[in-house]
Amino acid sequence: KQQINIGMLGLGTVGSGVFQVLKENQEELEKRSGLPILIKSIVVRELEKERLVEVPSELLSTDAASVVNDPDIDIVVEVMGGIEGTKDLLLTAFRNGKSVVTANKDLIAEHGDELTLEATRNGCDFLYEASVGGGIPIIRPLRKDLAGNRIHEVMGIVNGTTNYILTRMTQSGMAFEDALKEAQDLGYAEANPASDVEGWDAGRKIAIVASLAFNSRVNFPDVDTEGITSITARDIEYAKELGYAIKLIGCAKETDTGKISAQVFPALVPLDHPLASVNGAYNAIFVRGNAIGQAMFLGLGAGQMPTASAVVGDIVEAVRNFHAGTRGKFLVDCYHKKEVQSSLE
Ligand code: NAP
Ligand code: HSE
Repeated sequence: KQQINIGMLGLGTVGSGVFQVLKENQEELEKRSGLPILIKSIVVRELEKERLVEVPSELLSTDAASVVNDPDIDIVVEVMGGIEGTKDLLLTAFRNGKSVVTANKDLIAEHGDELTLEATRNGCDFLYEASVGGGIPIIRPLRKDLAGNRIHEVMGIVNGTTNYILTRMTQSGMAFEDALKEAQDLGYAEANPASDVEGWDAGRKIAIVASLAFNSRVNFPDVDTEGITSITARDIEYAKELGYAIKLIGCAKETDTGKISAQVFPALVPLDHPLASVNGAYNAIFVRGNAIGQAMFLGLGAGQMPTASAVVGDIVEAVRNFHAGTRGKFLVDCYHKKEVQSSLE
């Protein structure tokens, strides 16, 4: 191969960040990955919409099917969201031998096993670092760097929007709705922000990391989920007086009986605990394993550029694998090692 052609599905908050990083870091990325990376087409819903980045109009189209069927495209970068229709597009991409990079946690939490299987069958990469923790590396560490551990627990703040809202309510006395509006304007929230504030987004992320951490398949409905919609300014004030911050915490652990328990819930965090000072759109994830002890991953968990950082990192890995002829080789995947064994405790 002389170069790698990318087909992007989506040019919203994340997509425009990916476009910008690929453009700005073009030379560096070629050196790092071994091949020039070119964007061949970008699929959007509305061609005429004003964009966050300047994009040559000839790159834009509304025809996603033609991108996943285009023999010149090597990697499909899915940053448009959606579940059923998007799954079918990605299955087609794999059947056509394309690697896929996605930020779509809803899709992975729901159909990650089926997509991984199809990627494996076709010798393609399926990478989704941006699906949990925005710019924080957590998927790759769980898959690779921490693979020597028996993991006991994964726990922390995994939703930037709710952490931003709680921070603004705590530090500036802002009303819930105003803080949510700010988070939306900053590009942190999901298209349907109920997903953030009801805890579903965090629940899906916990399902993804639990699946990886415990070599099992944890589904979103297995995660007992509560959001932050019932938290009032008074709750926050009382908590502070008592020496606590209120944080939306996601947690998955292996119980003594070998089962997995997974929850998302607003928690009182002592003010001297490291999670209490994780503010704004920052996320922090603790992993407890029998060899490493405890490791903490901290960084911006949502927004255009941090998420683009994770997506482009995956693109570089996918390009390296093209270059080295190692595509799809990692896929002795956790989703298929064991029978489903998750259950609520
Ligand atoms: P967004 O700003 O709403 O962008 C979505 C993009 O996809 C838009 O360009 C939209 O086109 C396009 N699109 C949506 N449905 C389409 C369809 N059916 N056909 C063609 N194009 C379609 O969303 P986002 O915030 O970038 O999020 C994208 C994905 O990344 C989601 O899965 C989200 O969960 C995930 N994610 C987001 C963040 C974040 O911080 N925002 C972080 C991590 C992961 P138009 O522009 O023409 O409307
Ligand atoms: N809406 C998500 C959040 C985006 O606020 O965390 C990052 O996954």
